[in-house]
Amino acid sequence: MNQSLQTLVNEAIGRFRQAKTLSELDGAKAAYLGKKGKISELFGLLKSMSSEEKKEFGLELNSAKGVINSGLKDAKERIEFTQIQKKLNAQSIDVTLPGRGHDKGAIHPLTQSRREIEKIFSLMGFEIASGPEIENDWFNFTALNNPKDHPARSMQDTFYLEDLDNNGDNYLLRTHTSPVQVRFASCNKPPFRVISPGKTYRVDSDATHSPMFHQIEGLWLDRNVTFRDLKGLYIDFLKVYFDNTEINVRFRPSYFPFTEPSAEVDLMFSKGQLSGKWLEVAGAGMVHPKVISNFKLDPNEFRGFAFGMGLERLTMLKYGIGDLRLFFENDLRFLEQFKC
Ligand code: DAH
Repeated sequence: MNQSLQTLVNEAIGRFRQAKTLSELDGAKAAYLGKKGKISELFGLLKSMSSEEKKEFGLELNSAKGVINSGLKDAKERIEFTQIQKKLNAQSIDVTLPGRGHDKGAIHPLTQSRREIEKIFSLMGFEIASGPEIENDWFNFTALNNPKDHPARSMQDTFYLEDLDNNGDNYLLRTHTSPVQVRFASCNKPPFRVISPGKTYRVDSDATHSPMFHQIEGLWLDRNVTFRDLKGLYIDFLKVYFDNTEINVRFRPSYFPFTEPSAEVDLMFSKGQLSGKWLEVAGAGMVHPKVISNFKLDPNEFRGFAFGMGLERLTMLKYGIGDLRLFFENDLRFLEQFKC
């Protein structure tokens, strides 16, 4: 590179090095590489040169331009780096501030309770089954010996669904988990023991009722099951679930269309806030022979017992919860108390 070109390059790089801001750098860049810049002007001279000179000077100019460009790039990086550095120094970080943190979630109390009940019954040889929440009339009522127009149907205020396909099949939101008895027994050969937890629906809403609630159904079918087995098993279950061997349990005669005899199961704690009062926790009974026939089984060969309990109620009694709506409001102040 000839001397004067080299001087020009040094001069440009010197100015780039002195630039403190990007706009100063832009100014310097324009002075050399802009349209009217010194280097651009030199390129303009090429036009009037012979091809020999043009070739030589052109090469020199291009390499001068390359050196200037790389000087410009270095200067730009230096300025940007200093700017970031300045910014970082200005924003000091207060390491003593508390962090945002992540709260650990918790299992919903109803789920905790359901899992516990499933565990207890699994240990007693029960399997777990489920069924659909949209049921038809047969599984929810008729097969359970609760025919159309029978007054027992009014025990359960039902959400009926529109008969969209117009085939006369009455669809509804199941009012209890008992239809799973029919579904399970129709495709499994006894002996078996099964429980079925799930959502159920009734037209009902106050502090102790919600239109959606949960039940857990139980069914034990075999050749020689008796009411004594039902009592022994259910009392054992309650003692384990409430972790309390001192509870009193009674089977109070009652009526359900699908069991005969039928009972309501009440318990009474001997200690604590709820002590001294009988509290209803389940319905139960020996499966009605007509229901066993509807399972497509011979009632002379098979018999058994069934029971159904409310998951919300059992959970409320266990933890002393007074209002069922708390389960569904998702208020963290309530839910956080069930962290484990
Ligand atoms: N399905 C009954 C209800 O929702 C509860 C029930 C009672 C279930 C007796 C049973 C039973 O399996 O044997 O009110």
